[in-house]
Amino acid sequence: MKILALGDVVGSIGRQALRSRIPYIRKEWDIDFVIANGENSAGGVGITASTLSEILNSGVDCVTGGNHSWKNKEIYDKYETETRVLRPANYPAPAPGRGKFVYTLKDGRQVAVLNVQGTTFMEPLPCPFKYAMDWAKSLDDIKIRIIDFHAEATSEKKSLGFALDGNVSAVVGTHTHVQTADAQILPKGTAYMTDLGMCGVELSCLGMCPNSVLPRFINRRPTSFKRAIGQGALNGLLMDIDDNTGLALSVTTFRENAPRTQVTVLDNII
Ligand SMILES: [Fe+2]
Ligand SMILES: [Fe+2]
Repeated sequence: MKILALGDVVGSIGRQALRSRIPYIRKEWDIDFVIANGENSAGGVGITASTLSEILNSGVDCVTGGNHSWKNKEIYDKYETETRVLRPANYPAPAPGRGKFVYTLKDGRQVAVLNVQGTTFMEPLPCPFKYAMDWAKSLDDIKIRIIDFHAEATSEKKSLGFALDGNVSAVVGTHTHVQTADAQILPKGTAYMTDLGMCGVELSCLGMCPNSVLPRFINRRPTSFKRAIGQGALNGLLMDIDDNTGLALSVTTFRENAPRTQVTVLDNII
């Protein structure tokens, strides 16, 4: 099964990049299943019912979330009714929605997806390792198992990859918005990438205009971020997974429309 996992979709330019490219990419690469993280799809922070539908209508089969899944309360009802949208599974009850999903393709093949959030430099949630390991054990009949690990620390992400190596098809990271150069198949056959990167204006500070972000670091005072404008890029990981074993046959870093222009940073920000 060919699977494309895409990183955090940021704002309208990210959504537009999906809309314009996913239908062609699906055909061009013969993709069976597409997953994308939607936690930044509404204005750069959060997700709404409308941005969710737009992502799903672009040809994405499952939309995962993260720490920004809770920003817009209006989507909470949708979390209960739309099975294709996930938020991290390890948020304590009574969080709305769910963190896992099973998708059945037209030919009957099934893919199970789990979304968990890391705890290093993030909210002190219940242990994502326990959730992920218990989930993998519970899936006897479904061999194709994809985990979106929404986490900050590379060490935590890599550790989850090794903890589940051979028991899941893929552990892919989201949240940092910067694609890592470590697409690989772990020793026991699990596809792995520390961070898929983002879908949006890559020539920016994680999707935001550098001029609106720099003062936060230079002056150490809060600033309001403005969304970056520019070329929309898609970043992720393309995987070919063996239908019988559920293990990875190949992994390819996916990177389309990477920026070619230069960003201008004004010198009057201090
Ligand atoms: Fe994000
Ligand atoms: Fe995040």
